Amino acid sequence: MQRQVTNSTLNVYKLASTSATAARRLDATRRHFSGSSSRMQAVNNMTVFGGGLMGAGIAQVASQHGIKVTLCDLTDQALATSKTMMQKSLSRIANKKHPDSKDEQQAYISSVFDNVTLTTDPALAVKDADLVIEAIVENIKVKKELFRMLDEECSAKTIFASNTSSLSISEIASATSQARRAKFGGVHFFNPVPQMKLVEVIRTEETSDETFQSLLDVCKRMQKHAVSCKDTPGFIVNRLLVPYMFESVRMLERGDATAEDIDAAMKLGAGYPMGPFELIDFVGLDTAQHILDGWRQKVESGQADSLSSDLVAPSALLSQKVKEGKLGRKSGEGFYKYN
Ligand code: CAA
Ligand code: NAD
Repeated sequence: MQRQVTNSTLNVYKLASTSATAARRLDATRRHFSGSSSRMQAVNNMTVFGGGLMGAGIAQVASQHGIKVTLCDLTDQALATSKTMMQKSLSRIANKKHPDSKDEQQAYISSVFDNVTLTTDPALAVKDADLVIEAIVENIKVKKELFRMLDEECSAKTIFASNTSSLSISEIASATSQARRAKFGGVHFFNPVPQMKLVEVIRTEETSDETFQSLLDVCKRMQKHAVSCKDTPGFIVNRLLVPYMFESVRMLERGDATAEDIDAAMKLGAGYPMGPFELIDFVGLDTAQHILDGWRQKVESGQADSLSSDLVAPSALLSQKVKEGKLGRKSGEGFYKYN
C-alpha cells in the first residue's frame, strides 16, 4: 500500500512536470509566431516554379485574386498541361460565377489568364519577383539546386517559399546565402488548390518577422485560411494524414481488406470525403513515395525524433506501382484506373 501511494504520488509529480513543460513549450510557440503585421513587404509579382498539380493551382488562385504571376516549368509541354489544368478549374468556377452568360464566363477566364505569364526561362521568370514559390518535385537535392541558382538570379528583396509536403524548410533554405534565409519560409497549399481553404505557413528559426507577415498576407489575399507551424516533418496536416495513408497501404499489403472496402470504410464510417487510396491516387504515388523516402532518410540519420522507423519502412507495393509508372490520377492509373 505504502509503495502504491509513493508510485501514484510520483506519477502525479511526473504529470504535473510534463504538463508544465507542455505549457512552457506552447508559450514559446506563441512567441515564435507573434509579430507585428505592420512590418510586411507587399507582393505584387509572384513567380511559381513547377506547373504541376500544385504549381498550376497556386498560380491560378493568386491570379484570380489580382496578383501578377509568372509560372515556370522545364518544358513547353509541361506548361501546356498547366494551362489545361487551369482552364478546366476556371471553367467550373466561371460556370458558378456567371451561370447565365457564356460571354461573362469567358471574360472571367480571360481576365485570370491576363495575369499569368508562362515561361521555361528561370532568369526571366524571376526578373520582377517579389515572391518565389517553389512547387517542383519533392526531392531535397533538386529543390536545393533550384534555390541555389535562384539566390544568385533574384534581387535581394525577393522572398522565397517552398510548398514542400514533408521536407525541412531550413534544410532547403541552407542552399541560399545567410541574408536570404531571413526571407525564406514555407507555404504549404493543399490539393486541389482552388478548392482547399488551408495554407500552412512555416516559420523557421531564421525567417524574419517581415517575411512571415508577408507570407500570411499573401495567403489572406488569396482568400486562404493560414495556420502557422514550426519547421517539423509534415507540419500539421501531413504529420497526421501521411501516417494514415501509409498505414492503409500496409493494411492492403497484409491482405486485411481490399482497397475498395478500406476506402468505403473511411468515407462511410469516418466521414472523410475520399478514402485513403482515392486520396493517394489524387496526391500522386510518386509524391507519396518521395515523402516516405525523405522521412526514412531523416530517421536513419537521427534527425527526426518524432518519426518512428516502423512508419517510414519502405512499402514494396507503393515502390512497385511507382516503378510501373502508376502514379495515380495524373498518369491514368494508381490503386484505381481512370479515364
Ligand atoms: N477547381 C475548382 N473547383 C473545384 C476543383 C478544382 N480543381 N475541384 C473541385 N472543385 C469544386 C467543384 O466545382 C464543386 O463545387 P460546388 O460544391 O460549389 O459545386 C466542389 O469543389 C466539389 O467538387 P465535386 O462535386 O467535383 O467533387 P467532390 O464533392 O467529390 O469534391 C474534392 C472533390 C474537393 C477533391 C473532395 O473529394 C475532397 O475534399 N477530397 C479530399 C482532398 C484532400 O484531402 N486534399 C488534401 C490532400 S493532401 C495535400 O494536399 C497535402 C500534401 O502535401 C500531399
Ligand atoms: P507534379 O509532379 O504534379 O509537378 C511538378 C512539376 O515541377 C512538373 O511539372 C515538373 O516538370 C516541374 N519541375 C521539376 N523540376 C523543375 C524545375 N527545376 N523548374 C521548374 N519546374 C520543375 O508535383 P506536385 O504534386 O505539383 O507537387 C509539387 C510540390 O508540391 C512537391 O514538393 C509536393 O510534395 C508538394 N505538394 C504536393 C501535393 C499533392 O497533393 N500532390 C500537395 C501539397 C504539396
